[in-house]
Amino acid sequence: MIDVENLSKTYSGFRAVQGISFHVEKGEIVGFLGPNGAGKSTTMKVLAGYLPPTDGKIKIAGHDVVTESIEVRKRIGYMPENVPLYTDMRVTEFLRFRAELKKVPRNKVKERVETVKQLCSLKDVENRIIGTLSKGYRQRVGLADAMVHDPDLLILDEPTIGLDPNQIRAVRDLIKDLGKHHTILLSTHILSEVELTCSRVLVINRGKIEASDTPANLTKLVRGGGSIILEVKAPAAEVTSKMQALPDVEDVEMILPADGDWTHAKIFAKPGVDVREKIYDVVRQNNWPLRELSRVKATLEEAFVELTQE
Ligand SMILES: Nc1ncnc2c1ncn2[C@@H]1O[C@H](COP(=O)(O)OP(=O)(O)OP(=O)(O)O)[C@@H](O)[C@H]1O
Ligand SMILES: [Mg+2]
Repeated sequence: MIDVENLSKTYSGFRAVQGISFHVEKGEIVGFLGPNGAGKSTTMKVLAGYLPPTDGKIKIAGHDVVTESIEVRKRIGYMPENVPLYTDMRVTEFLRFRAELKKVPRNKVKERVETVKQLCSLKDVENRIIGTLSKGYRQRVGLADAMVHDPDLLILDEPTIGLDPNQIRAVRDLIKDLGKHHTILLSTHILSEVELTCSRVLVINRGKIEASDTPANLTKLVRGGGSIILEVKAPAAEVTSKMQALPDVEDVEMILPADGDWTHAKIFAKPGVDVREKIYDVVRQNNWPLRELSRVKATLEEAFVELTQE
C-alpha cells in the first residue's frame, strides 16, 4: 500500500528526512514513532502529497505521489498535526463541503457524511459551529474529514494529541475498528496506545529509520526485557551462585535494600528464553521459602529510549 524508496526532504539546506525506505502492506496498522523533530510529520506530508519530496520514489497503492497525485489523494485520508478546520462552519456543513471537494459522487455525499459522523461520535454536535467545539471534538471532526471520501489508507499525524484519557480511549478503539478495513499509518507519542493498536512500529530518529518491527519484538531488544524477579529466604551469595549456574542465565543483580533474611534478585536470561521453571526447580530443591517469582516485561517506552538516545 505504501512503498517508500530512499525518500529525502530538505528544507532550505536542512535534511529533515535522510533517504528513508519502508513499506506498509494493505491492512497493517503501523505506528510511526520518533522524538520531536525526527521527521514524522515531514514524511507524512510527503506521503499525502502535501509536500514534494527532495529525492526518492513514493508510491501509494501503486501510484506515484508526485506524478499521479490525484489518484493518490483519492486513496488517502490525511489528518495533519494541526487540523485546519473552517471554524465558522457547522460540523455537517463542513463535512459536506469537504466531501464535495474530495469528489465524492453527489448522490453519496449525504450517506458518507452520516457514516463518518456516526463513526466519530459527532451526532451530538452536528449542528454546532466548529469554532465553539472543544479540542477533542475538533480532532474528531478532523478525523471524520480524513475519512469522508472512504479512502483505503489513513495517514494520521498525532490523532490523539490534546485529548483527555476517555477520548484517547475512544479514538484508539475507533482506530482499531477502522484498521479492520483500512491501512493506517499513525504517529503518536503515547506508546501504550501503540502497544494496543499497532501491528508494527517504525521508529525514526533524526531523519533515519532506526527500527521496524512488532511492538513485542522491539521490547525484546531491551536489556532486562524478560528478566525475572525472585525473592527467597536464603543468603544472597548462595542464591547468586545457584542462579548463575543455570544454563541461559547471564547475570544476577541484587535488588536492595534487602528485607531481613530475604534475598531479592533480578535475574537476566538470554533474550527470548523463559527460565522461570528452572528457577523454581532450584527454589524447591533448596526448600527456600518463596515470596516472589515473576517476569518483568520491558515496555515499548524503554525500547524507544534505547533506540533514540545517544
Ligand atoms: N517548513 C519547514 N521549514 C524548515 N524546517 C522545517 C519545516 N518543517 C519542519 N522542519 C524541520 O524538520 C525537522 C523535522 O520536523 P517534523 O515536523 O517532520 O518532525 P516530527 O517528527 O513531526 O516532530 P514532532 O514530534 O515534534 O511533531 C525538524 O527539525 C523541523 O524543525
Ligand atoms: Mg510532527
